[in-house]
Amino acid sequence: MMIMMNGSDYKAVITSDLHMSALADPSDAIVSLMKLQRPVFDAFFDMLIKEHTDLLILCGDNTQSGSQADMRMLAKYLNTLEKSGIRIIMTTGNHDFDCGQEELYEQLFFPLLKPDEKDPHSLSYLKRIGSCTFFAMDDHEGRRSPSGSLKDATMKWLERKLREEQKSGQKIIFLSHHSLHADAWMGRPDFYCLRPAGVKELLVRYGVKLACSGHLHDPKIYQSSLCEIVTPMLLSGAHMYGEMHLGETSLHYQLKPFAFDGLLAKQVYEKDQSAYENRKAVFDKILKDSLNEYELQPCLNSLMRWFNAQQSGMVYERRNEFLHDEGLVRALDVLEKTAWGRWIRSSLDPSCVSSCEARIEY
Ligand SMILES: [Fe+2]
Repeated sequence: MMIMMNGSDYKAVITSDLHMSALADPSDAIVSLMKLQRPVFDAFFDMLIKEHTDLLILCGDNTQSGSQADMRMLAKYLNTLEKSGIRIIMTTGNHDFDCGQEELYEQLFFPLLKPDEKDPHSLSYLKRIGSCTFFAMDDHEGRRSPSGSLKDATMKWLERKLREEQKSGQKIIFLSHHSLHADAWMGRPDFYCLRPAGVKELLVRYGVKLACSGHLHDPKIYQSSLCEIVTPMLLSGAHMYGEMHLGETSLHYQLKPFAFDGLLAKQVYEKDQSAYENRKAVFDKILKDSLNEYELQPCLNSLMRWFNAQQSGMVYERRNEFLHDEGLVRALDVLEKTAWGRWIRSSLDPSCVSSCEARIEY
């Protein structure tokens, strides 16, 4: 396979939060496929090669802890891609530095990432592919900090480079781990959103139309003065990833479910069933004090239908169904003052756009 040439269309796969762990028996208490991650990643990276992907974009939390073993495991997968002619653009994430070190990250990954220009103050860099310039930002803070921010010096570097790339007529795509937008359900937006607060305005000033991030683990697309695609994680939820077709005058993004095969498909199904039951038990616990036994089951079923749609990026497409779903309306009354209630309501807000598809015209 040959990498795209200047001016031609190409296909990128975009995902985030691989949370790759080299532990022999990682915990799956939060991420349902954690114990199946090796066969899942083998299948996923095989698909990238077989389907002639030109570019893989990873939006951070690429490893679970950033330990030497985790980082080397990721480097092995990425090296195989590079040998197959697939380019890689990757941002850092907070988990990559839970016990990871910047020096090792740079030593292992920068020879693969081959930045065109690098910020001297962080692991941020830019990479040009044809008429697109990708800014892969490093927003990690100290160890075990869930928050994300860009240093003052990195902000100055970003502004200088945005000006230069805009001047040379490049289409700019901004990548970070934390997102530029906040949601109504976020009790602590600083755990989720990129700081400083003015990054989005800075990007808009330099004509940036698209930003991509991760960290939330579920798919989401925000549409404001720019479009922000939040990419989901492969190991949990509906096991989705994003496919992007980049052309000279437009970019099309679509969310896709990863297709598991054979024995792995059966194992994933079993894990998903138990994740479904665990989630239902959480809702059951919250609702059962407020609802009688006849109300409870329809409410639980409605909540689970919403939850599955949320994880597949399909709430927008099914909004009318949910707004008229009596079980969901009743459940929302009970959940009114909880973060769950705010989350569900905000997903049904008319300002929300499709989470599974986006098109940008240049
Ligand atoms: Fe994260």
